[in-house]
Amino acid sequence: MQIRKAVLPVAGLGTRFLPATKAQPKEMLPVVDKPLVQYAVEEAAASGIPMVVFVTGRGKQAIENHFDVSAELEQELAGRGKENLRREMRSISGMLRFAYVRQQIARGLGDAILTAHGLVEDEPFAVLLPDDVIMSPIPCVKQMLTIYERYGHSVIAIQRVPKKSVSSYGIIRGRPVPDFDCPGRLFRIEDMIEKPAPSQAPSNLAVIGRYILNPGIWKALTNVVPGAGGEIQLTDGLRRLLAKEPIYGYVFEGERYDAGDKLGFLKATVEIALNRPDLGKAFRRYLQSLDL
Ligand code: UTP
Repeated sequence: MQIRKAVLPVAGLGTRFLPATKAQPKEMLPVVDKPLVQYAVEEAAASGIPMVVFVTGRGKQAIENHFDVSAELEQELAGRGKENLRREMRSISGMLRFAYVRQQIARGLGDAILTAHGLVEDEPFAVLLPDDVIMSPIPCVKQMLTIYERYGHSVIAIQRVPKKSVSSYGIIRGRPVPDFDCPGRLFRIEDMIEKPAPSQAPSNLAVIGRYILNPGIWKALTNVVPGAGGEIQLTDGLRRLLAKEPIYGYVFEGERYDAGDKLGFLKATVEIALNRPDLGKAFRRYLQSLDL
């Protein structure tokens, strides 16, 4: 079945970036000159998904405005002869179709996704967390769609992380699946453990913020018992889904930056700037001139 919708949860509080996120959404923080959330929307569009469902919350209107047409700005740019920039602004709003639903209280990622049920309905869908910026020749979600089309089961993006870092992630226990097209990259997930101590971790395969989910996830999430602070964790929902149907883990090809974390955000900024044709050369020269 074709994946027609991508859910982007953007209702979190962004506490790790306070005070920058006191009056603006974390998802609007720019990496070079594009807000984080635009990287995720572009990935969905480049993967052939025609519609994005944003799960927003209080104080997140800037995201809606960003993906809307700004007639005043366009008029101003046209008046100043900046036609290319005007066209670029218009292309952001025309990239795909957008729908919005509000999560009233930030009650965790599982709850945020469940909030989108009414708009996604009972069909498979993608989830992209805009904190994870992924640069790859083939968009990460597109790679995952190939796996989904082949096997028909939910697919979670995973990444090998250093053993000492496993306690920052959901970690899977998985059985390798021989697949001619992606040798060593595909796993049938047997269990998932949230933030294990390195000594307890079943592997170093960490879950990152890209998912293709079958509609079984709705029932699984509805049955999750809220944890500390009333939060509904996505991992708990996925474990319930796992008890009912197979889930695959796929080690995607590409570079991922955890831009929800300050150091990760800085790394994303430096590396993306270095790769930009308009900035890379001058920025590299500047970095080389630093007495580090
Ligand atoms: P994070 O846990 O990284 O975001 O969630 P956060 O809670 O906003 O940030 P910190 O930890 O306080 O700094 C990953 C994604 O899920 C969304 C966030 O907006 C982010 O894009 N999210 C998280 C929701 O939409 N609702 C929630 O209840 C929690």
